Amino acid sequence: MNLNKMPTLRIGALETEIPIVQGGMGVGVSLSNLASAVANAGGIGVIATPGIGQFEPDCDTNPKEANKRALQKEIRRAKAQTDGIIGVNVLVALSDFDDLVQCAVDEGVNVLFLGAGLPIGLPKTLPLDRLGELATKLVPIVSSARAAKIVFRSWQKRYNHVPDAVVVEGPLAGGHLGFKKEHIDNPDYALEKILPEVIAVVKLYEEQFNRNIPVIAAGGIFTGADIHKFMQLEVQGVQMGTRFVATYECDASMEFKKAYLNCKKEDIVIIDSPVGLPGRAIRDKFLERISSGVKETFKCPWKCLKSCDFKNVPYCIGLALMNAKKGDLENGFAFAGANAYLVDKIISVKELFETLVGEYMAVAMHQQVGLP
Ligand SMILES: Cc1cc2nc3c(=O)[nH]c(=O)nc-3n(C[C@H](O)[C@H](O)[C@H](O)COP(=O)(O)O)c2cc1C
Repeated sequence: MNLNKMPTLRIGALETEIPIVQGGMGVGVSLSNLASAVANAGGIGVIATPGIGQFEPDCDTNPKEANKRALQKEIRRAKAQTDGIIGVNVLVALSDFDDLVQCAVDEGVNVLFLGAGLPIGLPKTLPLDRLGELATKLVPIVSSARAAKIVFRSWQKRYNHVPDAVVVEGPLAGGHLGFKKEHIDNPDYALEKILPEVIAVVKLYEEQFNRNIPVIAAGGIFTGADIHKFMQLEVQGVQMGTRFVATYECDASMEFKKAYLNCKKEDIVIIDSPVGLPGRAIRDKFLERISSGVKETFKCPWKCLKSCDFKNVPYCIGLALMNAKKGDLENGFAFAGANAYLVDKIISVKELFETLVGEYMAVAMHQQVGLP
């Protein structure tokens, strides 16, 4: 099969063979192993920064340095394993957002994805008057046209520059969600509904800055047919998380992956995360314990999230997610997309790409010959 037949995704001078971005997945779920495998398969592989330093020996005593060192190591490891496109995902909600952004830029990653909060301002250490010359492309993740408008307007005003691309994450995604709880199941907020609204905002800036600003759709995209459907809605690429968890190369433990294999539709629930946003996860004993009102005892070494009310939250989300990544689901939980219950086997990243491309091409060919 000619894998080049899918449209490519262009972000500035970068061009992927396959228009698939592997979504950044903290804590430790997408590191250099998964990211390099995705980049080698022709997509954009993304290292997630949340909790990345928790695997360093000095994570409690020197957390900011531990995070930077771990990120640097993971970027270098990924680059040693691929010549493909590597991205880094940084949450705006992280207390060391600025340091991690700067570190990723210094290490020369190709793309920075900025999620969980609106990146209205960028670190002052970046060359803010020459953002267009940065080799690292800057891509915010938004969940509404309003959010896109705020970010684009702010960057235009402050930096006379706008994002190089934008990810639009809908309410079926895994992890933290940029929606109010009551909007998650409301069809007015479905990805298909918010995408054209964001695209309309982006178009205004494309005209003004006279350049292409690709839109990437995320949340609930599971098959090649899903990819095809969204590519018909004028997006240039898709971002997927859940499918990449169920791969051999994913950096999480086998127990974490098995939670995906074993879950049923009704096990996938919306939780209130200490980040201050709702999140989608697989219900387990830990989450049941928390929802019954139990408050875990934990020590917070440094308030890793700007908004965390660490004295009052019932558990430390960094710790719970790290436990889950390591396979201790008695003391943690797995974030997952709404379609995680459809996962029925672990496969390689290469096999996943071949399946998705095959499914995409089948729909495209049907359409070409005018079959229903
Ligand atoms: C286990 C897991 C962890 C995630 N962690 C992050 C994260 O650290 N930062 C982020 O921006 N998005 C995170 N996400 C969202 C993904 O990057 C992606 O956008 C989303 O999962 C897409 O929806 P899908 O899982 O239905 O494909 C996470 C998702 C999952 C499943």
